[in-house]
Amino acid sequence: MIELKHVEKAFHDSKPLKDINAVINTGDVIAVIGPSGAGKSTLLRCINMLGEPTNGQIIVDGEDVTAKGYDVNKARKKIGMVFQSFNLFSHLTIIENIMNPQIQILGRDKKQAYEKAMSLLHKVGLGSKYAKYPDELSGGQKQRVAICRTLAMDPEVILFDEPTSALDPTMVGEVESVIRDLAKEGRTMVIVTHEMKFARTISNRVFYMDEGIIYEEGSPEQIFENPQKEKTIIFINQLKSLEFLIDSSEFDFQATAYRIEEYGRKNLLEHKLIYQIESAFEELCGQILMSHLGNFIRAKVSIIYSQKENVTKMIVLYNGSSFDPNDSDKGIALKILKNSISEISHYDIVEGEYTNKVEIIF
Ligand SMILES: Nc1ncnc2c1ncn2[C@@H]1O[C@H](COP(=O)(O)OP(=O)(O)O)[C@@H](O)[C@H]1O
Ligand SMILES: [Mg+2]
Repeated sequence: MIELKHVEKAFHDSKPLKDINAVINTGDVIAVIGPSGAGKSTLLRCINMLGEPTNGQIIVDGEDVTAKGYDVNKARKKIGMVFQSFNLFSHLTIIENIMNPQIQILGRDKKQAYEKAMSLLHKVGLGSKYAKYPDELSGGQKQRVAICRTLAMDPEVILFDEPTSALDPTMVGEVESVIRDLAKEGRTMVIVTHEMKFARTISNRVFYMDEGIIYEEGSPEQIFENPQKEKTIIFINQLKSLEFLIDSSEFDFQATAYRIEEYGRKNLLEHKLIYQIESAFEELCGQILMSHLGNFIRAKVSIIYSQKENVTKMIVLYNGSSFDPNDSDKGIALKILKNSISEISHYDIVEGEYTNKVEIIF
């Protein structure tokens, strides 16, 4: 068990941690979320004493590891960390990367260290890669090796700092799946992540960090479905919304479809809904409005999740004379659009350069 009591961390020009109080129980899987710069990494570094707190106490299994004279290596042995950037030694092979800390820090002999490393590599599906060098592996494979290196030390708690954010999207799944297996084994973990779906489904507790404190804490359902405090509500709702401008016929619809996909994947949208949004966007903006306005197109597209009504909407503001997409002569596009949504309404408006508004409910 780890207890954080009034933990503060100040740098010469900032104080990212003002007053952190928390108890991490054995078996907890805690997802830490919050805006960039909120102090999430700083918090993890404090927990395993990579960066000592400037004030407050950290109690690990009843021992105050922040006390003067305490051997911080003892705490570090209990608390493993996995970094965004893997931090493998590139001049060492995979197996050496996993063996060396066991030999140097835990005093295991070579055979023990080798057997431990091999069994972990097999567990994450990389048994055949033991003699390779890190540069011969993909990002997802390197991160799985880094996880093995941490596990080899038999830590009581594992801290993950955005373990998938340096990865190509195609490799996020394989690393998340290894971490999910660890959760199933009942390991105690603290995971900083921007992958909200992952955060929600893997954790039993969520910490939302802001303003130098754990601003709101709750179960995943509480934080993602029913946040109580102002900043948490704004953060969660922003996760579920996306906005972009279309200002020429050169607009890259392909890239935008990819953004919608990524947004849906990171957040909490059903796969079917992501597909409906992509499809409605493509037909309404890429086909109907583009054919109507051509090079003169100016459109602002917002995809918004409304917590109050529990619906996802797409609002499209655009220029030109009054034009209801329902009157479009692009028959097939209109049909696909209508199949992807439940309601579409058109309004004449005056809002800056925009004169039309279409509201779609999925
Ligand atoms: N080693 C450091 N020296 C000075 N300032 C730092 C250092 N590490 C972090 N900070 C500052 O602490 C704040 C929080 O950073 P960080 O913990 O990395 O946030 P997060 O991980 O939530 O994005 C930032 O304003 C950052 O500039
Ligand atoms: Mg960080």
